[in-house]
Amino acid sequence: MLTGVPKTALGVARIRAGESRRPDRLFDDPFAAAFVAAMPDAYSPQTERSDAAELIRTRIALQVVVRTKFYDDYLLAAAADGIRQIVLLAAGLDTRAFRLPWPDGTTVFEVDLPETTSFKNNVLAGLSPQPTTTRQVVVADLTADWPTTLTAADFDVSQPTAWLIEGLLVYLSHDDAARLLGAVAELSAPGSRLSCEQGRGVQQLQQMAAARSAAGASEAVALWQGGIEDVSGWLDRHGWTTEKHDLGALAETYGRGTAIESSSGFVIARR
Ligand SMILES: C[S@@+](CC[C@H](N)C(=O)[O-])C[C@H]1O[C@@H](n2cnc3c(N)ncnc32)[C@H](O)[C@@H]1O
Repeated sequence: MLTGVPKTALGVARIRAGESRRPDRLFDDPFAAAFVAAMPDAYSPQTERSDAAELIRTRIALQVVVRTKFYDDYLLAAAADGIRQIVLLAAGLDTRAFRLPWPDGTTVFEVDLPETTSFKNNVLAGLSPQPTTTRQVVVADLTADWPTTLTAADFDVSQPTAWLIEGLLVYLSHDDAARLLGAVAELSAPGSRLSCEQGRGVQQLQQMAAARSAAGASEAVALWQGGIEDVSGWLDRHGWTTEKHDLGALAETYGRGTAIESSSGFVIARR
């Protein structure tokens, strides 16, 4: 059973399962529904139904759908450009190793905590899906010495890597997030890329939730520690060249809403 931050991966799967059922879906995650079904009582139907809670839930769902599509495209573009080493940090219930069309010779590393990894592998074992690439599952705590565990799992520090840090940084303290990004840089050969969330959006929602006494509106919100507010600026100061992509603009491009107020989005960094 998943609890705490690992359980947030199930919340993401729930949103991906919903998106996969839409006729106009932006992606198809055929395994997401199985994760949700494996823990059917994960979310109590008595969760708060205030406007603030509803706003937070809608915004989180939009962000997850947009980011999933955005990061799918980011990773496939990196693969098309010849990068064969993909590392999903805090992979959670990410199924890109099964659902994306990877070029031959690609390895997808999935790094996450033991509880999340065993929940995922237990559910997948019941479905026996075939990965579309070499899949390396790495059990590690990203606030500890994870680089040693990753390199022991055949990660090649001399090869360029496409890193993805999806849905994690906000659950880390500023110092843990900075240490994580510093370690990623040390493991990044020239030609590497990194993508992750950017901006103040989550902090604004957190303040809004607190202001309306709705901090318990979303289990996930209560677990946020803030991460790094301006990740793009941090990366620029630490040897990366970054580009920012606005959540609202992407949502509009993908046909999911217009004029969404947002000061958050995603960053793609190169070095
Ligand atoms: C919101 S989920 C995102 C999962 C996945 N990236 C996605 O978007 O589908 C957050 C993930 O972070 C993982 N996580 C949290 N703290 C971690 C840590 N210290 N080390 C490794 N993984 C961690 C959790 O287990 C969970 O899978």
